[in-house]
Amino acid sequence: MINIAIDGPSGAGKSTIAKKIAQKLNITYLDTGAMYRAVALYAVEKGVDLSKAEEVAPLLDEISITFINKGNDKSVCLNGRDVSSDIRKHEMSKYASEVSKLPQVRQFLVEMQRKIASENDVVLDGRDITSNVLPNSKYKFYLTASAEERARRRFSELKEKGQDIDFEKVLKDIADRDYNDANREFAPLVKTEDSIEIDSTDKDQDKVTELILEHIRKIDGKDVAVEENKRQLSEKTQKIAKKSNPFIKLFAKFVRWVMGGIWHTKIYFKDNFIKNSKAIVICNHYSGFDPCVIISKLLGKNGRVMMKNEITKNKFIASVAEELGCIPVKRGEADINAVKKVLFALNKNRQVLIFPEGTRNKGADFKQMLPFKQGVATFALKAKAPIVPLMYYKKTGIFKKNRLVVGEPFWLDEYYGSKLGEVKEIATDYIYSKMADLRKEVDILVEKCHGSKKKYLKYKRLQSKELHVNACHRSQE
Ligand code: DC
Repeated sequence: MINIAIDGPSGAGKSTIAKKIAQKLNITYLDTGAMYRAVALYAVEKGVDLSKAEEVAPLLDEISITFINKGNDKSVCLNGRDVSSDIRKHEMSKYASEVSKLPQVRQFLVEMQRKIASENDVVLDGRDITSNVLPNSKYKFYLTASAEERARRRFSELKEKGQDIDFEKVLKDIADRDYNDANREFAPLVKTEDSIEIDSTDKDQDKVTELILEHIRKIDGKDVAVEENKRQLSEKTQKIAKKSNPFIKLFAKFVRWVMGGIWHTKIYFKDNFIKNSKAIVICNHYSGFDPCVIISKLLGKNGRVMMKNEITKNKFIASVAEELGCIPVKRGEADINAVKKVLFALNKNRQVLIFPEGTRNKGADFKQMLPFKQGVATFALKAKAPIVPLMYYKKTGIFKKNRLVVGEPFWLDEYYGSKLGEVKEIATDYIYSKMADLRKEVDILVEKCHGSKKKYLKYKRLQSKELHVNACHRSQE
């Protein structure tokens, strides 16, 4: 269903604009303000105190509100009676605002509005549509204008209808209603973060309508682009599956075997690795062969590896690399295609290996990592994926005793929901600190405990006992 939600203060032009949009898109328009007005009218006619829930709530069972097409317009019917002009009288605005504060009234009308929206393509305007009635709508707008402009519009509208009223009164009523609508306890008027704000103060109705339609097209365009991208990616995956001829497949298998075989590497704490769900695997980086053991011994067929695209210059190597799960990335620029592939792989519950240093560490001090690029934080935040840290003790080589330690996975959940641009840097610092912590543990394991997992675990047990005893001593002092 298409549900377009428009909120904003009184007199911002919501109903006129919403009607025009509904006409252009050939869908229904639902004036939710008219529903509050109809309830207020019924309560006024019954002579109850509008501020008292115990007096207004029992009336709700007696109320039926319907909309009937009348030419290009819609009539509002209260229990079958056309009340379209009665509810538009100036004093009704105040009364509607009054009953709209009552939670029973809101619940009654919101249920009706949600039902209509679930069964029809509809444009709804009101005060709580984006925040409360349809919080999941794709199309959310907040239409506003200065109080003076809104009062001017309402004033000429009332004059046209022959109502005798002065401008100052209209302006004051608008200000009072703004206050009431924005400060009531239940579902007050707010501009939600995901609403597009449009100020109509110096724009005519057609301009505002066109602006909103343009945004709708953009939102749709984005969806179409995402769908198209998904389609292209799955097509590509299928093509690769089709393309990978048996020879390449066999060769890749061989490479996988060789890579795991000749790089004698002892892997510690393999159980920390995440196999069956999405994860970003990060590792320090000394040589071009670093990914080999990780690909063949940890990632398996499910894994992906971000690699510089230079390796794919040769067609044969490119096919083998693809078969091995490589995602080539152009360095030194924002490679959107690679980014999409990584996010796609994570969404498919794959594990993606990324070297956060971005390039090989050729420094003299092998323990000193290079600064991290911000890609890992970006992916982890976008995909809400855990990070599994890996650490080679030192530069890998064929005839060396290589050691690779798998650290405990961690999440960046503290930053979920924050704006990416604001937390990317601090999240990257955090990832760096987690790798620095792992570095210390790897040093203890290799240097103090001579690479023995047993000795290391014993060391850790003693260390935690010592900490415990020290803490006890301190608390006794
Ligand atoms: O849009 P309007 O002026 O016809 O609305 C009349 C009153 O109804 C307004 O003061 C606030 C209330 N209202 C609301 O609380 N929630 C809505 N979705 C629509 C209107």
